[in-house]
Amino acid sequence: MDLGSGLGQFTRLIARTVGKEGHVVGIERDRDQILQAKSLADSSGESELVEFRKGDALELPLNGSEWGTFDVAHARFLLEHVPRPPLVIAQMVRSVRPGGRVFVSDDDHDNFRPWPEPRGFHALWQAYVHSYERLGNDPYVGRRLVSLLRDAGLTSIRNSCVFFGGCAGNERFQAVADNLIGALEGAKDAMLSEEFLDEESFYTGIDGLQQWKAHPSAALWYTVCCAEGTVPNQDN
Ligand SMILES: C[S@@+](CC[C@H](N)C(=O)[O-])C[C@H]1O[C@@H](n2cnc3c(N)ncnc32)[C@H](O)[C@@H]1O
Repeated sequence: MDLGSGLGQFTRLIARTVGKEGHVVGIERDRDQILQAKSLADSSGESELVEFRKGDALELPLNGSEWGTFDVAHARFLLEHVPRPPLVIAQMVRSVRPGGRVFVSDDDHDNFRPWPEPRGFHALWQAYVHSYERLGNDPYVGRRLVSLLRDAGLTSIRNSCVFFGGCAGNERFQAVADNLIGALEGAKDAMLSEEFLDEESFYTGIDGLQQWKAHPSAALWYTVCCAEGTVPNQDN
C-alpha cells in the first residue's frame, strides 16, 4: 500500500516491481490526483497491477478483512503534510501483517543547499518553511522518522537517505530546479498572506533562483530521509 499516492508514479513503480503475483493499492485524498493517477496507469497498460482508492491516510479506506494483511505500507512526502504524523504511522502499522514493513521517506528542509547561494534565497526559503509550520505541519519531519517508527512499536529499524539534488550540466538538473521553483511559486499565497515575506522579496528570490539555474556551477545539495521498520510478530 502506498499512502498519499499523488499522481501515482511511485505507486506504479512499486506495482511494476511486485508484478502480477501481488496487489498494490494507492490511497490518496485528492480526487483530481486519483483521476490523473488512474489515467496514467491506464495509458501505460498498468491498470491491472495497481488500484487507486480515494481516502484519508488518517482513516484508511480498508475493509475489515484487509487490515493487518499488507506486506508493506509505504509513504513518501506525506508526513510533512499532516499535523500529526504518529496518527498516519499508526494506520500504517495496523494495515500491515506481523513481520511486514512500514517504510517512510520525507523531507527535512534543513538539508537543502543550493550553491552558489541564489540572491534572496534565504528569506524566501525561511518563508516557505514557516508556511508549513503555520499549517501545524513539520518541515523537519525527516529527522524524526526513526523516532516515529520506534514510538509506534516497530523493530529492526533502519535509516538511509536518497540524493534528490543535481548540478548544472546533468540531464535532470533543469527539471529538479524547475520543480523547486514551482513548489515555491505554488506556496506564494501562503507565504504572502501570513506576511512571512513581502511581494518584492518573493520575486527577488524567484528571480535569484532563475539566475542560479542558468549558472554554469549551479549545484543543489539535497537528501531525503528514509526509514523502515518491521511490525513485530504477536509472540515477540
Ligand atoms: C507531495 S505529494 C507526494 C505524492 C507521492 N507520494 C510521491 O512521492 O510522488 C503528497 C500527497 O499526499 C496527499 N495527502 C496529503 N494529506 C493526505 C491525507 N491525509 N490522506 C491522503 N492523502 C494525503 C496529497 O494530496 C498529495 O497528493
